Amino acid sequence: MCTACGAEAPAWTGRCSACEGWATVEEQATEAVSRQTVSAATVPLDSFSGGGSVPLPTGVDEVDRVLGGGLVPGSVTLISGEPGIGKSTLTLQVALSVAASGSSVVLVTGEEAPTQVAARAARLGPMSDTLVVLDHTEVETITDVFANDKPQLVVVDSVQTLRAQGLDAAPGSVSQVRESAGRLVAMAKRHQVTVLLVGHVTKDGSLAGPRLLEHVVDTVLSFDGDRASELRFLRSAKHRFGPTTEVGLFEMSGGGLSAVADPSQRFLADRPAGASGSVVVPVLDGHRPVLVELQALVASCRDQPASVVANGIPASRLKLVLAVLEQRAGQSMTGQDIFASIAGGGRTDDPGLDLALALALWSSRADQPLGDNVVACGEVGLTGELRAPVQLERRLQEAYRMGFRRAIVPSSTGGGPTGLELVRCASLPEAVRRASDRQLQAA
Ligand SMILES: Nc1ncnc2c1ncn2[C@@H]1O[C@H](COP(=O)(O)OP(=O)(O)OP(=O)(O)O)[C@@H](O)[C@H]1O
Ligand SMILES: [Mg+2]
Repeated sequence: MCTACGAEAPAWTGRCSACEGWATVEEQATEAVSRQTVSAATVPLDSFSGGGSVPLPTGVDEVDRVLGGGLVPGSVTLISGEPGIGKSTLTLQVALSVAASGSSVVLVTGEEAPTQVAARAARLGPMSDTLVVLDHTEVETITDVFANDKPQLVVVDSVQTLRAQGLDAAPGSVSQVRESAGRLVAMAKRHQVTVLLVGHVTKDGSLAGPRLLEHVVDTVLSFDGDRASELRFLRSAKHRFGPTTEVGLFEMSGGGLSAVADPSQRFLADRPAGASGSVVVPVLDGHRPVLVELQALVASCRDQPASVVANGIPASRLKLVLAVLEQRAGQSMTGQDIFASIAGGGRTDDPGLDLALALALWSSRADQPLGDNVVACGEVGLTGELRAPVQLERRLQEAYRMGFRRAIVPSSTGGGPTGLELVRCASLPEAVRRASDRQLQAA
């Protein structure tokens, strides 16, 4: 029964058919049927088993890697990112790829004119006639398409343009985004339609939208990167159907986003030979080991207070490693500006980079390069001890594949590939001592 106008509804509905009020219909149990209604509403859980969460590949490999195989039918995935980072490009590539496999795809183009979308699509690849455009932003129009056409995938670009009937708030406002997304998600579940929602965030993630919706949707992906570089990262912040550890790596070009085929090669491509302050480290990018070049610059401080600047690594890790280097390994950095970054626009928060970071700082301060075919990998504890990071052996195999022949590692390291000499060290002071060995530098 509608609590606003009193009209009777035969079943629960989000909207009263008499007064058109939203969420006003509530179930009213009468004395005679209340007991029966309750038991009729409960269904054994195992009657639902065997269906459901098998992901269907989108055909865009890096997206499938992050999603653990693909999009789960009936799920709602939010892709969030800063303006201009490439969200529309990525979702259009997914739409084109899914449509190319013969599935029906609807593109809701609230943000751009269909002609603009068509021009982008022409840059990205062949179009299929199973891909159709819906140039509307009213949620009810979109959900009517769910019900009538049952498309396999609906891409909504973006959630900030949606309007829910009966709500006067401006598109993009907190209440409009929350209500529109809520209705869309409910209808996607009811009609088993897979939905990809695009959402904008500012640098601090504060704009109405993605943060607000994290609990409403099944999966939240963030798409980011340094706009000065063509590298883009796709990460999963929440995923109801699998782990959130994998990272997708893309390069943006005129032809759209393409997967970085050999990330280690990409990150080491422009590495300078014989440079102090440069140390290569195998980090884990999800499950795959990738070599990156850590660069540090320790320079006399010009203005007080001294700067500590981290790019591509957490500033907290840099500060911790600096403190341990000073207190445990006697390497004073007082009065120095400190800069540390991952060359080539890479980003990681893998603790396995601590040792390489410490050695890069030492190398810059001492102006002594490590050998060009040396890598370093290990976590640094607060007492200066070195610990083996997870999957060290796989990381060392990747280093060997890329031509490195020596690795500075914690003393607990098991084995490495034949042909890779392991320089085992128990502590950071010992690693610094070994790194200053001229023989190692000449390697
Ligand atoms: N012709 C082109 N050649 C190369 N790169 C292009 C071209 N057109 C666009 N780009 C790249 O695509 C980016 C914009 O991509 P896209 O429109 O997918 O981003 P978005 O995140 O959807 O942006 P918005 O916030 O405006 O919706 C540009 O910043 C640029 O790097
Ligand atoms: Mg866009």
